Amino acid sequence: MRHLIPEFEAMKKRLPPGENGVLVLPCLKRIQEDRGYVADEDIDGLVEYLGVPRIQVEEVLSFYGMLRRAPIGRFHLQVCHNVSCSMHGAERLLDRLQSRLGIAPGQTTPDGRFTLSRVECLGSCGTAPVLMVNERYYELQSEPLLDVLLEELGKP
Ligand code: FES
Repeated sequence: MRHLIPEFEAMKKRLPPGENGVLVLPCLKRIQEDRGYVADEDIDGLVEYLGVPRIQVEEVLSFYGMLRRAPIGRFHLQVCHNVSCSMHGAERLLDRLQSRLGIAPGQTTPDGRFTLSRVECLGSCGTAPVLMVNERYYELQSEPLLDVLLEELGKP
């Protein structure tokens, strides 16, 4: 993360002195954009750079589900399983994805192409069931639409 410090310095300049804790989340997000996840060495570096307690960084990491502690596949499929999506077939979608990809939620395919996650509400309950692939939403999903999507993503 050392090469990101000039960017962090620019953010720091916009804050009143002594408010470094505010930078924990934006710095973690930037680290993840850069590496794909937040490694132990990134946490060590951020604690040292910001001068905040390690627990503060760990709390932010555990609170925000979008922050990852391990590498993921090229395509991150996140299936919402909250009430609205569950009532509209989220479990069927998850079953279909598990069967097609051969992995369970929390796992990545051996070729590193797909990671599957079961997530909480994605904020699009009116168009349930919903899944995200990386940063893009796929709403009103069904098993046939899922098959089309997987084909677009290169899954034979
Ligand atoms: S319950 Fe699935 S998006 Fe809200």
